[in-house]
Amino acid sequence: METLKNKVAVVTGVGSGIGKAIAMAYAEAGALLGVGDINENLLLKTTEDLKDKNENIISLKTDVSNEEQVKKLIDETVNAHGKLDIIVNNVSVAIGGYPITDMSNEDWQKIIGINFSSVFYGCKHSIPYLKKNNGGSIINIASVQAHNPLPGWAAYAGIKGGVISMTRNIASEFGPYNIRANTISPGTIATEMVNQVLEEDGTGTLMDDFILMHPIGRIGKPSEIAATAVFLASEGGAFANGEDFRIDGGLVITPRTRPGAGSNSKE
Ligand SMILES: NC(=O)c1ccc[n+]([C@@H]2O[C@H](COP(=O)([O-])OP(=O)(O)OC[C@H]3O[C@@H](n4cnc5c(N)ncnc54)[C@H](O)[C@@H]3O)[C@@H](O)[C@H]2O)c1
Repeated sequence: METLKNKVAVVTGVGSGIGKAIAMAYAEAGALLGVGDINENLLLKTTEDLKDKNENIISLKTDVSNEEQVKKLIDETVNAHGKLDIIVNNVSVAIGGYPITDMSNEDWQKIIGINFSSVFYGCKHSIPYLKKNNGGSIINIASVQAHNPLPGWAAYAGIKGGVISMTRNIASEFGPYNIRANTISPGTIATEMVNQVLEEDGTGTLMDDFILMHPIGRIGKPSEIAATAVFLASEGGAFANGEDFRIDGGLVITPRTRPGAGSNSKE
């Protein structure tokens, strides 16, 4: 069903994983798109896949930690499609898996830039267009990490908590303009990010821990996050504002974690 017909959406980090699944689901739902990723090859592949559904796509190499590049992606999308209805600030990198005491300031600044400033830039430069459009939907991708600590991920989790808090404030401030802002907090989802975390952990047991954490007995699929992103962007989500949607197989309501899981610092 084309629940996003004639809607214009910007999605960041569409080269793989959750961002790609959201962009594909939006195209399937009839949205016109502006998409970005820092990895040109991955971006090109996603753009080709999207063009099977809609030829008219703005696709720009974008580093979301760079304000000008985020602004350019949003501006060019509006120039091409005439308006903006939806933005999904999706990108993060997984820097962690070890105690915060071992984190260099360089990595801390990097994770702030990519995981947090990116959301600030996306919101800052989309809100004027959403106001002009008499409303729209901002969807920021957070994480269950903001709710349920996993040793080794304090910096990443702290930033995700900041994303949820910033989003709630935006929802309150810009709700009167019919701009809705929500976060999605995924549980563990089968993407390259998780592959990287498993590889860096190196114990060979972390996937078992991840599965154990989810009462539903498995990790999630990118399409299961994309389905919520479609809902929040569509008329069906018209009264959802300032909420965090945990799509986590029940992880947060029933945390079951082996002590020390997630941190390679454990004795
Ligand atoms: N996979 C999970 O288990 C999980 C769980 C909770 C939250 N999340 C969140 O979901 C979002 C997407 O994660 P994912 O698992 O799909 O990640 P992923 O690593 O599979 O994909 C991330 C994409 O972002 C791109 N990217 C990286 N740095 C960039 C930059 N500076 N500028 C632009 N693009 C950049 C990559 O090239 C890649 O295409 C993130 O915000 C992540 O924190 C993921």
